Amino acid sequence: MGTLIRAGKVVSAAATTLADVLIEGETIARVAPAISAAGHTVVDAAGMLVLPGGIDAHTHLDMPFGGTVSADDYEWGTRAAAIGGTTTVIDFALQSMGHPMTEAFNTWCAKAEGKACIDYALHMAVTDLGPNDAWLDDVDAMVAEGISSFKIFMAYPNVLMVNDATIFKLMQRTARLGALVCVHAENGTVIDVVVQQALAAGNSGPLYHALTRPVEAEAEAVHRVVAISEMAGHARVYIVHVSCEESMSEVAAARARGLHVTGETCPQYLLLSLEDNMGKPGFEDAKFVFTPPLREKKNQAPLWQALGDNVLQVVSTDHCPFRFADQKTLGLGNFAKIPNGAPGIENRMQLIFHHGVNAGRISLERFVEVTAEAPARIFGMFPKKGVVAAGSDADIVLWDPSAKYTITAASQSMHTDYSIFEGFAVKGNARQVFSRGECIVDGGKFIGRVGRGQFLRREVAGQ
Ligand code: URP
Ligand code: ZN
Ligand code: ZN
Repeated sequence: MGTLIRAGKVVSAAATTLADVLIEGETIARVAPAISAAGHTVVDAAGMLVLPGGIDAHTHLDMPFGGTVSADDYEWGTRAAAIGGTTTVIDFALQSMGHPMTEAFNTWCAKAEGKACIDYALHMAVTDLGPNDAWLDDVDAMVAEGISSFKIFMAYPNVLMVNDATIFKLMQRTARLGALVCVHAENGTVIDVVVQQALAAGNSGPLYHALTRPVEAEAEAVHRVVAISEMAGHARVYIVHVSCEESMSEVAAARARGLHVTGETCPQYLLLSLEDNMGKPGFEDAKFVFTPPLREKKNQAPLWQALGDNVLQVVSTDHCPFRFADQKTLGLGNFAKIPNGAPGIENRMQLIFHHGVNAGRISLERFVEVTAEAPARIFGMFPKKGVVAAGSDADIVLWDPSAKYTITAASQSMHTDYSIFEGFAVKGNARQVFSRGECIVDGGKFIGRVGRGQFLRREVAGQ
């Protein structure tokens, strides 16, 4: 006996089709018009969109950062993701300086074990190639474990930042293996000088986090890392959290030259801005201290355009939540000590559907592509994830395009005491969410078992 999702509009990156979807066990058995209901549990999807479960390719769960730990662990972060229609996350294992990557892998597997509510994969954030670069061999070991993407930070000196030599050596190895390097692109060294100068001048409030990280610092780093990838043998590169027109243009230029460069942006850069969200009295702006920072509003239209034109392929959240009351306040009197990051894992699908599809900025099919299919392809999970098709995992969202919802901290599942999208009214929300065939969300409530999520081994193939 299976589950028959009947008469919904099945959406993929290529088309929207009226069809039935038969789930047997953990997989999709058939997608076809008028499948016989005999012997199956029927879920009426009339008027619903049937979407592949969302994939959030950039999250920071249970991550030590900025003198504290991100506020959502694997249980609470993945529960919130599921409620919002996301059925897979790719989180970051952070290599500690002086320790091998294998150790970080074990640490992050232990964080997720028994807690994850949906399937999860890991990028390995590389901070140290080890004595005589011995840990470069860890890259091969990670790929063998199903970690086919790595992360480097060109920002956060003395914490996570790596130098160009490390980037180059890492990319020589990943180019050989076909693995992907995700890049936080900002010129961390120059930014650090500007930050120290601002503090010395007595400019210590949260707004100065944004004012000390100019768009040029982001664009320069994108340009540099693309050049390094070319010198390293055309390594595959994915630029994370593209926040402004300048760095998006660097991605566009690289792609126009045929390089293996892809990129993402996030709802905060598409929908929030310096003008609309910063400049409040007191310490309130600390809620919006994340990196890259909020940009001028004029960047939003080019970012939407880039999503529509496939200059950028993915929308992920960079979910890195900190509570305002006791975590953001670590930076009272010194903006450089405010933990960088914001919550968002729960609202990505709602926000991009409403402000993308309903607003006519992107098509329904493109919405599915940027929230599910493209990350599945780029990160080596397609067609197991990212599509509603026979043989794929039954990760399916019944999406009600007319459901109205207002985002508030009071009603969210994320463990923060604020939302950066407080009061945003959206139309379109997840009604039911299936993860490997199991209904885990019904009417906004998580009904699955905590710890049911599985580690996803990923292939190096993609792009
Ligand atoms: O502010 C942010 N984005 N915090 C998380 C770490 C990062 O840079 O992605
Ligand atoms: Zn980053
Ligand atoms: Zn991040």
